[in-house]
Order: sequence, then structure tokens, then C-alpha cells
Amino acid sequence: MNLRSELEHRLADALRTVTGDASLPAMVAPAGRAEFGDYQANGVMAAARQARTNPRQLAERVVAAVEPDERIAKLEVAGPGFINITLDPAWMGAALSARLMDERLGVAAADPARTVVVDYSHPNLAKEMHVGHLRSTIIGDAIVRVLEFLGHHVIRHNHMGDWGTQFGEILAYMDLLAERGETDVSMQLADLEVFYVAAKQLFDTDPDFAETARRNVVRLQGGDPHCLQVWRQFVAESVRHCQRVYNELNISLTPDDIMPESAYNDDLPRVVKDLQEKGLLEESRGALCVFLDEFRDKEGNPQGIIIQKTGGGYLYATTDLAAVRYRCGTLHADRILYIVDARQTLHLRQVFAISRLAGYAPPECSLEHHPFGTMQGADGRPFKTRTGGTVKLTDLLHEAEQRAFDLVTAKNPGLPEPQRRQIARVVGIGAVKYADLAQNRTSDYIFSFDRMLSLEGNT
Ligand code: ARG
Repeated sequence: MNLRSELEHRLADALRTVTGDASLPAMVAPAGRAEFGDYQANGVMAAARQARTNPRQLAERVVAAVEPDERIAKLEVAGPGFINITLDPAWMGAALSARLMDERLGVAAADPARTVVVDYSHPNLAKEMHVGHLRSTIIGDAIVRVLEFLGHHVIRHNHMGDWGTQFGEILAYMDLLAERGETDVSMQLADLEVFYVAAKQLFDTDPDFAETARRNVVRLQGGDPHCLQVWRQFVAESVRHCQRVYNELNISLTPDDIMPESAYNDDLPRVVKDLQEKGLLEESRGALCVFLDEFRDKEGNPQGIIIQKTGGGYLYATTDLAAVRYRCGTLHADRILYIVDARQTLHLRQVFAISRLAGYAPPECSLEHHPFGTMQGADGRPFKTRTGGTVKLTDLLHEAEQRAFDLVTAKNPGLPEPQRRQIARVVGIGAVKYADLAQNRTSDYIFSFDRMLSLEGNT
């Protein structure tokens, strides 16, 4: 039992002693303001009304009737008949110390334990991991650790974007490099950013290359062995890159937690067929869509959610439906948590609604989007480099470490360098994570190295 409900019992007992009525709640709640104490009991006024008596006098009698309790330092009647409760600091100190000594900090294990799938981090591999993925990664990992600490069975799902049209140009560019004799994949991809920019530029300027890229998409989806092999090499290298970032950040994700978009490829035609059989699909201009009453456009017409495009291609939503089906049907999830930024709210609401209708998620499974705001630069615009590019996650982490190193060096020039490096790592990376977790999760937040590594305030 928690402290609040224990205090509730104490005060309710006193209320019964005074009124003879055992059904009256004391209504103990945290105090509204610190100067009122720690908790307050709000139930006396209603009890006085019922007994047609003066509430302040009744409150005085209740205070007198409270059994002596080591936890309570002071009980005071306030206003029209509130009882302010101040806890005993010595008792509180001892209680907190005892918890600190306990391995579980006095927190009981969850009962019953639940199976919880947490979908987080999920970068798109056709782009370098950028700061946009930092929040999902840090917040998601904190949630996963808390749930595990509570004893739940947690399944991490890194829903990486490893499939789709962008891979056409990547494969075309890898082939081009191989033709030039550059066959060492990890060399080619040593700087992913340079790689993407070069591929994109060719795609925009060279019609032959663009044609090859488009053909690659079809070949890859058709299971062409060469395309698949190059794609696998590319994905493996990108995954290694992400894993380095996770390790640097001490994020608990491992390659085993990767459940990428491509893992659902074989399920996509099944999902379409199944939705069709359940009568949920309608054809609209050649595409197969689900129309739901609760999603309407500005004119009030039901909005179609495309499940399969004209020409047979599948969409982001189709993969997400297959994922819900797998997480509930095969993994028997009790809860699925999506740690995805707020801009995908509509997408996830649609996926959830269709999943319920199709029976992929049973009513007792809770589907939860836990959105977060975007990270912004000092100018209040999306976070960019000085030249307007997206900030690479590795650059950001290195800058945090470097700035922390300068700070330690200024404060403690006498420390040996390896020790200063070690401190800089802990402080720099810790500051990045703390700066994120200390924010109101759903607001956009302004990223500032100066504030993050400031020696004033909470940081
Ligand atoms: N890869 C996506 C992105 O970077 C996020 C995936 C979120 N998870 C999901 N199941 N849709 O925008």
C-alpha cells in the first residue's frame, strides 16, 4: 500500500470515531502548495454537511481523534475544514535511506506481469541516423528499462525502415562503385552521408542512372538475387553503424531487437487478402483503401487509407498492420507502445482503428502512441547544421563530448588526460540524455549545447 492510501485509512478511522459513520472517505490527496504541508484531507466538509454540523469544529475533533503515528509530524485545520498533513522529516529520511539500501528501491514487482512490445528508435536506413531519431531512442530506452525493472516481459522492436523505393538508387550506386572496382562495402559506406548525397545527385542528374534505380526497386521487390545480395550488404553495414551509436549512448538495443519493415514483406499480401475477405477494402481510383467513418476530409467525406497502390505496391500503413497482427497474434502482446514523434499521430490512429476492425488487435490489447515533440535549433526551427544540413547523430555526440572535455580541462587542468577523457564521455553523453528526458515529452524542445552542459541548474 502506498503512503497516500495509508494516510487515507488513518484519517478515515478518525472520521469514523467522531461521526460513527464508517463509509465516509477522508479524501487524502497531495497538498496543493508546499506551505500547506505534504498531504491534505478534504473529506471533512462533505461529512459535516451530512451531519449538519460546523466543518471546522468537526475537523478539530477529527484531528484530535487521529491515532498517534510516527509518520505524521503535524495536523492542522485550515480554511473551511481542510486538514493539512505534514510528514515527519526524520521518519521520511529513515524511510528513504532504507529504500536506497534495497536493491529494488522498495518498488514491488508488477502483478500480473504483462507482455509489452515497445517500438522505438526505428531509423530509416536509406538515410544516416540523425537527431530526429535521438528522442525516440532515448525516451524508448528509458521506458523499456522502467518496464523491465517492474518485472514485465518487454520485447524491443526496432522497426527499422530497410525497404522501399529509396533503396533503388542506393543499389544502383553500389553497383556503379563496384564497376569502378570499389568493392569494399565498408569502405564505400564509411561516410554514409557522402554516399547518400552522391547517389541522390546522380539520381537527379543522370537519366540512365535514375532508370536503373527505378528498375532496381521492382527487381528488389521481385526477389532478384543480385539486388537482394547488395541490399543485404548495405543493410548489414548500416546496422553496424547504428549499433555503434547505440553503444556510444549506452542504449540497450542489440541487433537481435531489429524487426525491420522488410520482415513483414511476406505478410503484406496476406493482410490485403484478409482485409478483402472481411469486406473492409474498397477500390478507389485503382488503389485498395479502407474507409473509416471517423477519418473524414475537410468536406466531411470519409477519407480512404491506402493499403495497396495501383500497380500492387504496399505502403507504410500496410506494414504497420502486419506488425500489429504479428505482435498480437504471435507474440501475444498485452500492450504495444509506439515511441514515435507527434507528426505520425494520424497515421498511427488509422493503423490502430483498422487493426481493431480487422481483429488483429483484440480489445484487451492496448495500442498506445506515446508521441514526443521535435528537437529544434536555437532559432526555433528544426535542428540543422550551420549550412542547413541535418545534424548527424555521431557529430552531435562528439561535440557534446568535446565540449565536456573543454569544460573539465578548464576546471581541472591537473587531471591526467585519460581521466579527463573518461569524465568528458560520461558527462557529455549523460548531458545529451538528461537534456532530452528532462523536457516535457510532448513539447518541441530547443537543443542547446550551452544549456545542456551548463554547470548551473539541474544539469
Ligand atoms: N522509420 C520511421 C521513421 O523514421 C518510424 C517508424 C515508427 N514505427 C512504426 N511502427 N511505424 O519515420
